[in-house]
Amino acid sequence: PLLLILASPAHAFDLQGHRGARGLAPENTLPAFATALRLGVTTLEFDLAMTKDGVLVVHHDPTLNPNIARGPDGQYITTRTPLRDLTLDEVKRYDVGRLKADSGYGKTHPEQKPVDGTRIPTLSEVVAFVERAGAKDVRFNIETKLSPTTDAETADPATFARAIADAIRNAGLTERATVQSFDWRTLKILRELAPEIRRVCLTVEAPTFDTVQRGKPGASPWLAGLDIDDFDHSVPKLAHAAGCAVWSPNYREVTGDSIAAAKVLGIQVIPWTVNDRSEMARLIDLGVDGIISDYPDRLRGVMAEK
Ligand code: G3P
Ligand code: CA
Repeated sequence: PLLLILASPAHAFDLQGHRGARGLAPENTLPAFATALRLGVTTLEFDLAMTKDGVLVVHHDPTLNPNIARGPDGQYITTRTPLRDLTLDEVKRYDVGRLKADSGYGKTHPEQKPVDGTRIPTLSEVVAFVERAGAKDVRFNIETKLSPTTDAETADPATFARAIADAIRNAGLTERATVQSFDWRTLKILRELAPEIRRVCLTVEAPTFDTVQRGKPGASPWLAGLDIDDFDHSVPKLAHAAGCAVWSPNYREVTGDSIAAAKVLGIQVIPWTVNDRSEMARLIDLGVDGIISDYPDRLRGVMAEK
């Protein structure tokens, strides 16, 4: 047994910087990724959208975000322009380096250090940046921002999945990237297109028996397109049946039982988005495989105390 343990090393705890290091630097930008690398994250978490000319760009919302984006006139935008309506050249005109101070975003992330002049990066720019930094072991946890319940989707799921699979393969990142989504349609398509790319099933809250039975995308978007006959209310089991290597729940939903169920299935549990030190400690004690945090520095501190 000892030899077996040595031959199959356990995965190191996965310290994921959410949107780079959203608590400390402008989210989903190169300064945030630089901060995360400096703090020693093992994985960069970020979100993708697609422009009108088919370029994958890193932005949380499928639209430009008025809490973040300033136009060439220096003013925060007031309308949510869908990214699918803008070319990459147009996207690059917006400054996303400083949160609007009196917005919800500005209030929840007071420690975020602005970097004026920062632009929305493309996926290729992020990958090149990480490679230039020499962070060869750092992984990419890439979220597709799609949902059957929004009308701002930047691409249809098949187009999006194909573009992401091509980008990951062309960059030689198959071993270092995971694709995560609340929209399990995209994950299902990706599983068929590129089964070698590991997928992460995101959930907001545990689906109830009722929402699963009704299978209504509106009631339970992450279950759209899922074909499961046999389930027992266990979300890890649903994620495993959907072919995901990782289940990433809202951290409030994590229990000892759900972690135990995931372990039996060989599926990792990496909750989002944990910023409170005592919650980090609780989850580590429960046995999660990693944590996604806006504050990689806090998480590193809690890990060091364990
Ligand atoms: O990794 C999942 C987490 O990032 C989901 O939340 O911030 O993309 O809305 P968010
Ligand atoms: Ca995300």
